[in-house]
Amino acid sequence: MRILTGLQPSGKLHVGNYFGAIKPAIDAQGEGDGYYFIADYHAMTTTHDSNELRENVRNVAIDFLACGFDPSRGVFFKQSSVPEVNELAWILSTVCPMGLLERCHSYKDKISKGISANHALFAYPALMAADILLYDSNVVPVGEDQKQHLEVTRDLVGKINDQYGDGTLMMPKARIRDDVAKVPGLDGEKMSKSYNNTLPIFGDEKPTKKLIMRIKTDSAAVEDPKPTENSIILALYQLFADQAEYGQMISDYENGGCGYGDFKKRLAEAYWDYFAPMRARREELVTNSDEVDSVLKAGAEKARSEAAKVLDRVRKAVGLA
Ligand code: ADP
Ligand code: TRP
Repeated sequence: MRILTGLQPSGKLHVGNYFGAIKPAIDAQGEGDGYYFIADYHAMTTTHDSNELRENVRNVAIDFLACGFDPSRGVFFKQSSVPEVNELAWILSTVCPMGLLERCHSYKDKISKGISANHALFAYPALMAADILLYDSNVVPVGEDQKQHLEVTRDLVGKINDQYGDGTLMMPKARIRDDVAKVPGLDGEKMSKSYNNTLPIFGDEKPTKKLIMRIKTDSAAVEDPKPTENSIILALYQLFADQAEYGQMISDYENGGCGYGDFKKRLAEAYWDYFAPMRARREELVTNSDEVDSVLKAGAEKARSEAAKVLDRVRKAVGLA
């Protein structure tokens, strides 16, 4: 089974990204043949600053390795290291109805936010389909927001196979992470960089702990019992603490006698300890950029040789070879 997913290089990783995307991707290693890439061509649909793009790609590579991706058990590469993906995207575009792309929510959302409607933004799902199909991927773990792009991909496989013969492209399946609860941000809304409510995973100690101390709470006095329902502190603490620690906080909420300041301190400590090994690994990687380069280079070689096989098959099927 081949599992493939793309990571957007879009700035600083936050706790929501970690539990919603990075951790599930790393946990899936070993379940099958794992292919993970940094979607740098896709990032160009919205980032036109070359230094920013380079830096974001570098950071996501370092972050993914620091979070525990094991290069001996999977393939990790930059999307643009396999430029052949553009050829497959073109081939897919020739059977892709305009209406299919016009209906995509993600395109409509971006336009409504004022991002200019360039061709690449419109064609984004065709390139995403090519990312998936170029490696004969079977399973594609993605967030709910990407579900429609997977439907477009499956539609395109149907059209190519109808036109050029069964087996020209493999039919992939989405794996939607609906078991991963939405991580709340510091204001209780979904944690998201667009809401300015994030807890970074690799922030500096003092300012990050300060963010936690500023989480909004009600005005219950220290001795009062406190409501456990909809508590931002508890929801975040559950991600970092072990069961006994979490159980203790629940009973301290229910019994009263502990203030929110105390709960926040416990949360800040648990958060800091949880990411400590990853933070240490990240520091190592920042000073050892050769290691990052060599992982990406080996990944690119492997990905490119797999892609060549699929593209060869497709070129023959469509009449280019
Ligand atoms: P943001 O909302 O900060 O812009 P992205 O849309 O770039 O984050 O998300 C990247 C990945 O992280 C996606 O797979 C998304 O499902 C996941 N993700 C983002 N925020 C959360 C959250 N609060 N809870 C769970 N998963 C999240
Ligand atoms: N569009 C995805 C996102 O925004 C990233 C992505 C690009 C992707 N190509 C992919 C994900 C292929 C899975 C498979 O998160």
